[in-house]
Amino acid sequence: MQNDDGADDYSGVFVAFEGGDGAGKSTQAAMLGASLEANGLRVLQTREPGGTPVGEQLRTLVLEHGNGEIDARTEALIFAAARAAHVEQVILPALQNGAIVISDRYIDSSAAYQGAGRNLGVETVLELNAWATQGLQPDLTVLLDVDPHQGRARRTANEAIEDRLESEPDEFHTRIRETFLSIAHEDPDGYLVLDAYQNANSLAKQVMDRVRPLLDERRDQ
Ligand code: TYD
Repeated sequence: MQNDDGADDYSGVFVAFEGGDGAGKSTQAAMLGASLEANGLRVLQTREPGGTPVGEQLRTLVLEHGNGEIDARTEALIFAAARAAHVEQVILPALQNGAIVISDRYIDSSAAYQGAGRNLGVETVLELNAWATQGLQPDLTVLLDVDPHQGRARRTANEAIEDRLESEPDEFHTRIRETFLSIAHEDPDGYLVLDAYQNANSLAKQVMDRVRPLLDERRDQ
């Protein structure tokens, strides 16, 4: 497996989970990780923004309310900076060591939230992130598709407070959803799109059915 720049080959497998807020990505990422570990495989679970000390600080900066105005370009660069550290310090070393890396969000979140949500342009944000990540793309992206209105209902259950991005209006989240779907539509081999409103065990089974062949390919190399 190779990244776009033709840089180092790696023997691991990289799976990203994407989707709107309230889609249940964290639950599915954890379920996949647990199943793979139960099969004796080496798994690294991580999330964006975050995954490194600098990334976790950038996460607080960009998601918490009360850090002053953060304009759209600055916001895109903060997410890209956190991602650059994540790839260089965590994801690439783990893949080179043969681990299965499961990331809760990756580049498509920036394409959707900053590119479409903040109107910076999807292509522009993808280019910025291709540089930040040394061209590293997931082997598979699982997109959990969620209706923005229902996503909000899910994430505000139990009086949870929404972060800076979550608290944007439904139109913002609708643009995000459409962008995720259109990116996935262009690359059916690289994406598994699932309706997030299915039962968690059924979703987990469909994810595993798509991941298994990737593991077999790795074993055959
Ligand atoms: P997430 O970790 O999914 O939120 P939580 O753990 O609170 O459910 O994501 C945090 C927020 O950051 C989410 O609203 C999406 C947003 N985000 C972007 O806008 N751009 C990005 O590149 C990433 C990774 C996240």
